[in-house]
Amino acid sequence: MSAVSSSELVHRYGGNLPRYTSYPTAASFSEAVGPAQAEEWLRALPAEKPVSLYFHVPFCDELCRFCGCNTSVMRHEDGRMAYGDLLREELRRVVALVGTQRPVQHLQFGGGTPSTLPAAALRHIIRSVRSMFQIQPQAELAMELDPRHVPEGYPALLGELGFTRISLGVQDLDERVQDACGRHQSFEQTEACISAVRNAGVSGVNIDLIYGLPYQTEDSIAETARKIASLRPDRLAVFGYAHVPWKQKRQRLIPEDSLPQPAERLAQRARMDAVLRAEGYSPVGLDHYALPQDALVKAADSGVLRRNFQGYTTDSSDVLLGMGASAISMLPDGYTQNITAVAPYARAMADNQCLPVARGVARTEDDRLRGRLIERLMCDMGVDLAQMEAQLDVFEPELAALQPLADDGLIVINGPHIRVTEKGRPFLRNVAAVFDTHRKSLSEPTAGATLQPRFSGAI
Ligand SMILES: C[S@@+](CC[C@H](N)C(=O)[O-])C[C@H]1O[C@@H](n2cnc3c(N)ncnc32)[C@H](O)[C@@H]1O
Repeated sequence: MSAVSSSELVHRYGGNLPRYTSYPTAASFSEAVGPAQAEEWLRALPAEKPVSLYFHVPFCDELCRFCGCNTSVMRHEDGRMAYGDLLREELRRVVALVGTQRPVQHLQFGGGTPSTLPAAALRHIIRSVRSMFQIQPQAELAMELDPRHVPEGYPALLGELGFTRISLGVQDLDERVQDACGRHQSFEQTEACISAVRNAGVSGVNIDLIYGLPYQTEDSIAETARKIASLRPDRLAVFGYAHVPWKQKRQRLIPEDSLPQPAERLAQRARMDAVLRAEGYSPVGLDHYALPQDALVKAADSGVLRRNFQGYTTDSSDVLLGMGASAISMLPDGYTQNITAVAPYARAMADNQCLPVARGVARTEDDRLRGRLIERLMCDMGVDLAQMEAQLDVFEPELAALQPLADDGLIVINGPHIRVTEKGRPFLRNVAAVFDTHRKSLSEPTAGATLQPRFSGAI
């Protein structure tokens, strides 16, 4: 094995890659899948099959410059109430196809900032969900919150409605970094938000941090990680900043020369990792950390961790029904995604009785096989190809393509068994990408097309 330097590793493996929260990935979605196909797939769901529910709320109280999500500010409460009505109407249409009283173990509100939904709208939605599904006694009900904008009474409302987990954006505590990101959030705001939800009986707390942001240094990032760890969230996500100004115009306000270079990003990631481990957190997959007694760590240890559009999860359901603008659904036959922007989503809902589906992709048998393999790799940091319900020789080209990664110490190949090393953890997506047969066709540019990466750098 060669002792390859970190800048060489970044050079070799720092290309643009998907996050593998699905396979095929969203880059393969096309308009070939629309409402009729989605309805057929939903009707075909086996009776009694448990489902998970996702509600997407694309509104925020203010927009952060670094944010890669599709968000807007909806000042008028009437507009946010009306959006809540659309979520319920879409749920009603979906239930008309899949039937009522299916068991639900996981329900999530993501965004944007879903607490922009007025309290009355959230109550209506939860009431509808409880009347149409069987929410299991130990179900996880989760919501993303912005600690700077927690509406008065919202923590108590979440407790009253049975929410069990919140997910908070923090990103970084350093003032210069916050200035450049246009997100000013004090440590005290985050602390107050956590206390308020914990006092309301919502015990699960996730925090999002980001490395690779403007002006971040290894030291500043270590300081943020230490302070945030003192709040003892049970889970943390540590994302690499995805700078995609060709797609997200607001990121153009971030000066390019303030961004850490790839080798520095790798060092920041390593420093964050060292601090969180020293604070008692266990790493989970590519970018998560959790307290050792947390269900995410237990799932990882016992080989049942899952990965879906929400990232790493203990959710074992193969079906995720997504409601709202841009929401993605995962079905046994394929993935579907709703119309992205709010106004056309609302128009489509008003104009006809169809589902507001804009695109998607059907899954072939080969996609399912590779999807399972990639999910195990991303969750278990390894995979046994002999257990993959396929003749081993199917993967001969991949085993050959993996050899350079083994030579660089990122993986160990032992017969059909591939294990990702700690050195390889930041490059987990590169290992998964070797098994992604859709990537090749996607990365071949059409003549005359402007070449822009679809994904952000892997580091
Ligand atoms: C959908 S956002 C919701 C955050 C929540 N509304 C808040 O303001 O606290 C979820 C997370 O995505 C991550 N995120 C957003 N833009 C990102 C980017 N460009 N690169 C990496 N992570 C990003 C952030 O960590 C963020 O907390």
